[in-house]
Amino acid sequence: MTDLSVKLGTETLRNPIILAAGTCGVMGEIKDAIDLGQIGAITTKSITHEPRVGNEPHRVADLPAGMLNAIGLANEGIDSFMEHQAPKAATLNTTVIGSVAGESIEEYVHVAGAMCTSEYIKLIELNVSCPNTDDGLEFGASPPLLQELVSAVVEACDRPVIVKLSAAPGDISEHATAAVNAGASALTLINTIPALAIDVHTGKARITRGIGGLSGEGIHPIAVRVVHQMYQHICKERDIPIIGTGGVTHWEDAAEFILAGASCVGIGTASYINPSISSQISAQLASWVHKQNKPLSSLVGCFC
Ligand SMILES: Cc1cc2nc3c(=O)[nH]c(=O)nc-3n(C[C@H](O)[C@H](O)[C@H](O)COP(=O)(O)O)c2cc1C
Repeated sequence: MTDLSVKLGTETLRNPIILAAGTCGVMGEIKDAIDLGQIGAITTKSITHEPRVGNEPHRVADLPAGMLNAIGLANEGIDSFMEHQAPKAATLNTTVIGSVAGESIEEYVHVAGAMCTSEYIKLIELNVSCPNTDDGLEFGASPPLLQELVSAVVEACDRPVIVKLSAAPGDISEHATAAVNAGASALTLINTIPALAIDVHTGKARITRGIGGLSGEGIHPIAVRVVHQMYQHICKERDIPIIGTGGVTHWEDAAEFILAGASCVGIGTASYINPSISSQISAQLASWVHKQNKPLSSLVGCFC
């Protein structure tokens, strides 16, 4: 059998396929539909300090090239998460990454610290696409603020910290550098992309909030570009694994991410269409790696 194991921080995943935050349940509920033994890791829903009800429905629209969503980080809050969800991590046959969101550095530190009290949450991922209540600036949009945030969480946490960046600023070289310099063990590239869809019959936005985040097939080439650029910019030299995320729908999309410089591949929207797509892609990726006659690690970043 082809060895697809991959190192992510202190953990060795059985294969590079990771289910993306917010798309596989709060704590891997997708396990009812697929065998998590075929998946490298799952990421939890992003959790905040206080419970959040999220945005008004409609929160999701199906578009020709993907999905538009403005869920608004609906979640039960860290206390309930630690009591009711975290213990389930022990029963999942895969590595669990805890996703953290917040509106202040203190909030991120608090939530990440709480997650680190569970021995079964092996890595922390920071969703930095959230506005800072102090100045309204998105954490991930300002390299100095991002560096401060990541340093604080890395210091407070005894787990590897993954930083998930958005492609919205265009060139995110400075953002990636800030995250790596602050001690990030890996980067997840990318989050959804701000987008708008209008219903021409009503003249209203397709989702109540108006602007939402675009995910799915349409964003894949953007994500490949960002993975390639950040691999060249800093990740190759500093040996920082990238979790290439955005629009993976077929095994070729996953292979493309690997060639662009990703060590792992995140899958989100495609699981809504076919919940078992991740295990299929993992099997097909194994066959592609086998045909290349090279270990997976030496295929990473082969496109230069
Ligand atoms: C319905 C939905 C909910 C999401 N919730 C989160 C979340 O809680 N935290 C987060 O970091 N990303 C969240 N994302 C973004 C995904 O994790 C992923 O980065 C993005 O959808 C791109 O990957 P994809 O095209 O494979 O879906 C969400 C995406 C969708 C579609």
